[in-house]
Amino acid sequence: MDLNTVYEQYRDRIRDIYGEDVKIVYGVGNIDAEIMLIGEAPGRFEEEQGKPFVGQAGKNLDEFINILEIKREDLFITNVVKIRPYKINEKTGRKVNRAPNKKEIELSLDTLLKEIEIVSPKIIVTLGNTPLKALLGDIKIGDVHGKVIEYNGRFLYPLYHPASIIYNRALYDVYIEDLKNLKKYIKSNN
Ligand code: URA
Repeated sequence: MDLNTVYEQYRDRIRDIYGEDVKIVYGVGNIDAEIMLIGEAPGRFEEEQGKPFVGQAGKNLDEFINILEIKREDLFITNVVKIRPYKINEKTGRKVNRAPNKKEIELSLDTLLKEIEIVSPKIIVTLGNTPLKALLGDIKIGDVHGKVIEYNGRFLYPLYHPASIIYNRALYDVYIEDLKNLKKYIKSNN
């Protein structure tokens, strides 16, 4: 099966549940990538532009990519959930992002697993808890960030989510350290 077919099936399933107008943000990038990044779910800007990681989290991701000395075009970037999870702020009446719930993750997981099979990356980098738990079950990012984990014949490297480090200096330093170690790991495996 190719990626377009996988995405068409996902679209049909999502539209059956959420209606025709729901916006879906599919994975982007090099489908032969050796490194695949998996985020949580699109936010407002990603929904508007139809691409993962284009808002503030995307700026953080660019910093990430600079540290690794790789190009965005060399990566495949996707999210576990491909529709924007939101709630309505009662005061403003506006949509605000929230973490995806169990149902949304369950609806999307087989699509993610097919993306992994098709792109077949050597290294999967999970960003934050959602993709880590979706793939590995009950495991805490605090225990495994920056460690190489074997995953179905591939390597999985858990990182904190780029958005979670914005206001947390201590976490930021850890995140940069994890990235530097990932860079060494990539270099030594090439
Ligand atoms: N955060 C994510 O996890 N994914 C996006 O695409 C944007 C923000």
